[in-house]
Amino acid sequence: MVNFDFCTPTRLVFGKGVIEKLPSIMEPLGKKILLVYGGGSIKKNGLYDKVRELLKDFEIFELSGVEPNPKYESVVNGAEICRKNGVEAVLAVGGGSVLDCSKSIAAGAKYDGEPWDLITYKVPVKSALPIVDIMTLSATGSEYDANSVISRMDLNIKTCLKSEHIFPTCSILDPTYTFTVSKRQTAAGAADAISHVFEKYFTAPSSDLADGMCEAVIKSIMKNVVIALEKPDDYDARAELMVDCALACNNVIALGNGASGWVAHAIEHTLSAYYDITHGEGLAIITPHWMRKILSEKTVDRFVKYGVNVLGIDPAQDKFSIANKAIDMTYSFFESLGIPMTLGAVGIDDKKIDEMAFDTAGDGKLANCYAPLTVEDVKEILTNAL
Ligand code: NZQ
Ligand code: ZN
Repeated sequence: MVNFDFCTPTRLVFGKGVIEKLPSIMEPLGKKILLVYGGGSIKKNGLYDKVRELLKDFEIFELSGVEPNPKYESVVNGAEICRKNGVEAVLAVGGGSVLDCSKSIAAGAKYDGEPWDLITYKVPVKSALPIVDIMTLSATGSEYDANSVISRMDLNIKTCLKSEHIFPTCSILDPTYTFTVSKRQTAAGAADAISHVFEKYFTAPSSDLADGMCEAVIKSIMKNVVIALEKPDDYDARAELMVDCALACNNVIALGNGASGWVAHAIEHTLSAYYDITHGEGLAIITPHWMRKILSEKTVDRFVKYGVNVLGIDPAQDKFSIANKAIDMTYSFFESLGIPMTLGAVGIDDKKIDEMAFDTAGDGKLANCYAPLTVEDVKEILTNAL
């Protein structure tokens, strides 16, 4: 194990009906709240009305229309509303995009300059407004981490601000609010969370404890996403997915593991920065090709462990046969969820592959990873995924 210094200061409030606690959660944070939400799903399923009713004694300002792959412009607008009105806390109601946007708003509200300075680490985040979220989609794990992923399409940049100041103060996780998530987003969310675990698992060193926890999370997602796709209001399946996803992006399941470099995510973030695709779909498309590229004498034992312990492959076979079968099964699993499995199917052709490969791996950006990749390697992965 490598040394670690671990703290997640986020309170998780989980279960059916826990939204009733919202007023008492918000009370100590202030009376002036910025309510942030997306394109309208929370109005359709009644959650918006419920939140407004529960917070009738608070002064509510609103930022609506936060986009999937949240855009920088929404951060600027939200931070401006906070500063102008003396907002004391931010309440995000929606998926990871709404929460990520809220996190950067909370930091931007406490900073006099352009929030971009903070998002790009030009200026360190020194403080942020408190953030509370009500999650409506199981995917990113933003509800239990310190990350805020923001996109600027004008610059083809999708980047992640990480700061201890933007951990949510409290995340309200009621699986019933995920019943209305479409099949497409349910599948994409599962692929995203599985990828979060892969990014921790395909590395060295790793421990028996971390491997066991990572494997349990992947198995739970693989089992329960299939149930949720068949029966969207299956409480137990949605509940497992909700907790799996919260844990999958938090280092608690991989304490002491070496850093991997989060390579599949690096590639996907570039794809989204150019083509604004759904994050989980991009990951599902890239992952099998990335796996095939990094399979080597150095990495093969990790694939064997995954293949045997998670996918139930017979351990008696040759190790490279197990590894290749595990990669094939990973591809087939994502495909079985209905995810389009080529870049072409999500509107990406070969025109910008050179630029995208350079943005991802140029200047040695992926040279110090567990399984390093060059620009040429990324080009090959993208080409194979076409
Ligand atoms: O905008 P609304 O109308 O709410 O609709 C959303 C959106 O269209 C819809 N949706 C959400 N909850 C729903 C629902 N529809 C029906 N019923 C519900 N209960 O789903 C669509 C997608 O929502 P979005 O928030 O974009 O999805 P997700 O949670 O997958 O978030 C993706 C974003 O998070 C980033 C991704 O890159 C992407 O920008 N990530 C954040 C991470 C983090 N903070 O740690 C880590 C991840 O690796 C990832 O990069
Ligand atoms: Zn992700």
